[in-house]
Amino acid sequence: MANWEQIDTYVRQWLKEARNRIMESFKKTLEVQSKSDRNDLVTNIDKETEQFFVQNILQYFPEHQIIGEEGHGDEIEKTEGVLWIIDPIDGTVNFVHQQRNFAISIGIYENGVGKLGYIYDVVLDELYFVEPGKGAYLNGAPIPKLTNTKVMDAIIGINSSWLISNRHIPIENLHELVRDSRATRSLGAASLEFAYVATGRLDAYIAMRLSPWDFAAGRLLVEELGGKVTTVKGENLNILESNTVFVSTKCLHEEILNQYLLK
Ligand code: IPD
Ligand code: CA
Ligand code: CA
Repeated sequence: MANWEQIDTYVRQWLKEARNRIMESFKKTLEVQSKSDRNDLVTNIDKETEQFFVQNILQYFPEHQIIGEEGHGDEIEKTEGVLWIIDPIDGTVNFVHQQRNFAISIGIYENGVGKLGYIYDVVLDELYFVEPGKGAYLNGAPIPKLTNTKVMDAIIGINSSWLISNRHIPIENLHELVRDSRATRSLGAASLEFAYVATGRLDAYIAMRLSPWDFAAGRLLVEELGGKVTTVKGENLNILESNTVFVSTKCLHEEILNQYLLK
């Protein structure tokens, strides 16, 4: 049986160490490359950070499985056993251009059930942590449960490119949602957008394509606080696949789904 307390102790230690390496990297020249298109960036630090976690995890927990954005475990098709899902730097465009607003995101599952989640805002040194059923914390302080709001009072997290075109929801529906809400914001780091919903800085977050490492930790955090996380059609997320994602407080979720997304 996995010793979650021991795993948690190691993860916290590794996050601090990874932070030191990343902060040090700001003094050096970054090696930046493009992946699927010229705006999909990866740096030597994304790759090194993933390697750092993979090596440490396998040293102490050789039987665990690991999926990392930068290639580790991309053959994994099952959620049996303990599975770590890691985004070494979520928000790489921000990392490269702004040197802030990026996070390390780690979700740990056992037989498909969320056990521990970490979203670490590296520059602010803010750690969002969740142990499903036992609480959610920001730097050790319990995060209060989510309170409900209506669209007219809500700040919606959405990347404006989804308002130009997307394959999932008619853009007129999204335009209407944007018009009716109080404001929209786009942070550019999915895990932090989950953390912002969890802490009430955003009331909802909508994305048309996220990978498991973008939401593995965030969904556990938001659900623990009473929020709802589904696809934009209201379906359950598949933890091993890319999904559309719609995150919000419970009542707002129903309002947005029925009156805008599924209209
Ligand atoms: C990206 C960010 C971005 C989201 C993209 C992700 P990356 O992750 O979370 O906010 O819109 O879909 O791929 O590539 O910076 O780790
Ligand atoms: Ca990401
Ligand atoms: Ca990444």
